[in-house]
Amino acid sequence: MSSSSPLLYVISGGDDPGQWRGVFAARFGDALRVAVWPEAVDPAAVDYIAAWSPPAAASFSGFSGLKAVFNLGAGVDKLLARADLDPAVPIIRLQDAGMAPQMVEYALYGVLRHQRDFDLYAADQAEKRWQPRLPRLAADTRVTVLGLGAIGGAVAQALAGLGYAVRGWSRSARSLPGVDCRAGADALLRLLAETEILISVLPSTPETRRLFNADTLGALPAGASFINCARGDQVDEAALLSLLDSGHIRMALLDVFVTEPLPQDSRLWGHPRVVATPHVAASTLPGPAVDQIADGIAALKAGVSPLPGQVDRGRSY
Ligand SMILES: NC(=O)c1ccc[n+]([C@@H]2O[C@H](COP(=O)([O-])OP(=O)(O)OC[C@H]3O[C@@H](n4cnc5c(N)ncnc54)[C@H](OP(=O)(O)O)[C@@H]3O)[C@@H](O)[C@H]2O)c1
Repeated sequence: MSSSSPLLYVISGGDDPGQWRGVFAARFGDALRVAVWPEAVDPAAVDYIAAWSPPAAASFSGFSGLKAVFNLGAGVDKLLARADLDPAVPIIRLQDAGMAPQMVEYALYGVLRHQRDFDLYAADQAEKRWQPRLPRLAADTRVTVLGLGAIGGAVAQALAGLGYAVRGWSRSARSLPGVDCRAGADALLRLLAETEILISVLPSTPETRRLFNADTLGALPAGASFINCARGDQVDEAALLSLLDSGHIRMALLDVFVTEPLPQDSRLWGHPRVVATPHVAASTLPGPAVDQIADGIAALKAGVSPLPGQVDRGRSY
């Protein structure tokens, strides 16, 4: 390996950080040197960092030659929370990179569970109760997707393609075929009142933290369901539990939680209206991720601005 090749430092608190050594080597060969935290490096010699959920013990200080930080996922909340990361260094996140189709499947599972009454049949089965219900058409099922970006946009379009009555919500105005798109904070409460299945694919930002509280979840019609495949800090979990207890929320499919792993004493674990999964709705796929990072490095070298997937720190996503 040539010592003149750029040096990429992986700082990851995710599973098996060492895997990235082989994945980057397979893609770049000798054209990139790779080190993986906690391996010691000369910070001044590092050209790029690839990070995911960086451990508190890892430092982002002293990387004086750093050209970019590549986020090994879509959500950059953990990275933006790092006070030791130089704000002048661009953060580039993954855009879809194989996550959108996974998220479509995850959301569809929740939508079908509600629309085709699988939650009610599971309860019937537990009681050995034979109780058929008339199925409802997708076209009569109002699904709202909050967040219409690289992943949420794919979810909204896939559900619309299956015939669901899909509404979408974003910060700025968007137009997606087959989706009734709304934008801006002022549009939210009215939209919630029209929603039967609510899906969050929003980033975690100061505006979206605790967005799902007694007021907003309470604005859903009685018997609505909630799917959160975005970030746990968007939810006031006490308010959600109370609305689940009362039956106002019929079913919640939750992939993300305020505290992860979900604490043993959380009532969400055993609530009969909750399906909980361990932050697996859409996982980073190493191959597509590294391909996208290679494109990012090429764009950096070509002086492209803004870079594809570059995070706008002012918006926090
Ligand atoms: N659980 C998992 O396994 C998993 C996996 C991957 C991603 N995620 C989560 O999914 C999130 C979305 O990913 P993405 O790649 O689709 O993000 P993205 O491309 O950045 O899209 C974000 C979308 O949210 C909208 N938005 C942001 N703030 C808003 C606000 N205050 N009000 C209304 N809309 C707002 C944006 O509006 P504009 O269109 O106007 O910009 C955009 O449509 C990630 O940030 C991550 O938290 C979770």
